[in-house]
Amino acid sequence: STTAPAIHRGLAGVVVDTTEISTVIPETNSLTYRGYPVQDLAAHRSFEEVAYLLWYGELPDAAQLREFQARERALRPLGRTTSELLARLPETCHPMDVLRTAVSFFGAEDPTEDDGSPAAHRAKSLTLLAKLPTVVAADQRRRRGLAPVPPDPGLGYAENFFHMCFGSVPAPEVVRCFETSLVLYAEHSFNASTFTARVVTSTLSDLYSAVTAAIGALKGPLHGGANEAVMHMLEEIGDPQRAAEWLDGALAAKRRIMGFGHRVYKHGDSRVPVMQEALDRLVARAADPETTRLATLHTALRNAMAGRKGIHPNLDYPAGLAYHLMGFDTPVFTPVFVMSRITGWTAHITEQLAHNALIRPLASYAGPDQRAVPAMAG
Ligand code: SDX
Repeated sequence: STTAPAIHRGLAGVVVDTTEISTVIPETNSLTYRGYPVQDLAAHRSFEEVAYLLWYGELPDAAQLREFQARERALRPLGRTTSELLARLPETCHPMDVLRTAVSFFGAEDPTEDDGSPAAHRAKSLTLLAKLPTVVAADQRRRRGLAPVPPDPGLGYAENFFHMCFGSVPAPEVVRCFETSLVLYAEHSFNASTFTARVVTSTLSDLYSAVTAAIGALKGPLHGGANEAVMHMLEEIGDPQRAAEWLDGALAAKRRIMGFGHRVYKHGDSRVPVMQEALDRLVARAADPETTRLATLHTALRNAMAGRKGIHPNLDYPAGLAYHLMGFDTPVFTPVFVMSRITGWTAHITEQLAHNALIRPLASYAGPDQRAVPAMAG
């Protein structure tokens, strides 16, 4: 007799490979990028420095950073064909579909050979890092009936995104909160979208195909789509007084509460305290009744969830409300996640290629026993 193989649904608990990029240690709720605690990076470094760290393995010195920023800033504008293509997409499609199409188009347009070398990959990665915010901002403005605002090479990555979305840059405090979210979102080991990028790369396909697939994986509400779903949920609940009652109904209906729970962290997401602090600063700054209502509701639901289920928020819970308070339209939240995670995805694509093994697991067959093909009846 043969013993049934152990099945790991959702690959839960399965260690697939080694990585030098980041480590999530659930026991201590900690996360490091290339050895540096993410909280310290968020407090002391810009998003561009973190992108450099993820790609090159070390933080840049002043000269390296200047050069990196100059290259990123020069690559921000979109070509005419890209702008025309994106303008033709229906406004009924989700901004994540626009972004996925844009990356696919950049791949079709890129004349350079994908020789699989780290240098070629870094050049393509930098192009995506630079251009994705331009796509996201132009798309948000188009949906508001506004003409695009061209990128400003005099502004940093975070500031320039506000400039392209709204035509102005908010107070440094607000920009700093946004930058914090970008640093926290940048990388998270073998999450579903990063693993998707690695699966595509493992067949020796190209970088744009891997990133296009990763965007598709991130879109779902069990993954990156959760930051938007958090906002929809807060809108559905409306009144802070209703939070606990709404939660009981939702749990009784077996609904998943968006922005809570995590496959790896079971005692809280290491990134949440830093993002919650940033959110608290935004709330204190605004101090208007609408912001107070949302913040009170946000806290009430978190407390009710802790009481009922003992399940903690993940990064999408504070980030979702923070993006709303910064003025972004809800469908832009997951595209912003892409603008940050593009750094982690592409670091993993390079690493996968450096010691590649085709990713191809097995399945335990549960269909009908072997049988003869019948002659066609009648
Ligand atoms: C991200 O992997 C990463 O690192 C991802 C990410 C990254 O940076 O890349 O951190 C980003 O994707 C964050 C997660 C965003 N998703 C959500 O917020 C959606 C809501 N959360 C979930 O549905 C859920 O918690 C997952 C999908 C995040 C994790 O699911 P698992 O590991 O498959 O766990 P599960 O669904 O099997 O839940 C285990 C138990 C269940 O109870 P029992 O059936 O065992 O009694 O916990 C309960 C679940 O019912 N549970 C929830 C819940 N999360 C877990 N119940 C209600 N609402 C929830 N959110």
